[in-house]
Amino acid sequence: MESKVFSIGILVSGRGSNMEAVIRKVEEGYIKNAKVVVVISSRRDAPALEKARAHGVEALFIDPKDFWKEPDYERREKLREEYDRKIIAELEKRNVDLVLLAGYMLKLSPHFIRKYKGKIMNIHPSLLPAFPGLNAQKQALEYGVKYAGCTVHFVEEEVDHGPIILQAVVPVYDDDTVETLSERILEKEHEIYPEAVKLYVEGKLEVSGRKVRIKA
Ligand code: GRF
Repeated sequence: MESKVFSIGILVSGRGSNMEAVIRKVEEGYIKNAKVVVVISSRRDAPALEKARAHGVEALFIDPKDFWKEPDYERREKLREEYDRKIIAELEKRNVDLVLLAGYMLKLSPHFIRKYKGKIMNIHPSLLPAFPGLNAQKQALEYGVKYAGCTVHFVEEEVDHGPIILQAVVPVYDDDTVETLSERILEKEHEIYPEAVKLYVEGKLEVSGRKVRIKA
């Protein structure tokens, strides 16, 4: 019997190095029974779009039309959901089973998160729950931590909060700058994000409350 092929959709807004790390591991056959079927960007000029196409992956820009600038909270959240519905339509057309956020800068609507509950992962450049939000590496340096790192987690409504799948640790050196620390963390990101995807596709992640158990 042939095993199921998981269809992966990746949401991006920028450089796309994590996206590319996952695509490569699929191409190399390290992640088996999976295909990255679509990359969707919230930014027209995201380098990730060209990178995806260079790997033969369909890449779309969906224009958010700066909805986050809407000052009224309720109207803004309505626009957010409308935007997410456009993304969902593209994911559904391609029967996406797993959604990866890879440097995706927009907060997802509750509608999106409910729709893909347990099927959305994110990578964050800190050892969560430390330093959620923007500029995590700068926050870590300013705080004076001796170790930093990255986290792959399932996505829930609260930003950078969902159950933790994998983490990796790197040392922080006295002469580190945001750039040198970010680079050291990024190397680890490129290891643990594909690893988490592989575990998911192999059915080895068991979530119970906040805890993610990795089955043998
Ligand atoms: C990474 O540091 C990731 O942890 C964070 O945004 C950055 C995206 O980089 N969420 P890239 O677009 O994957 O190169």
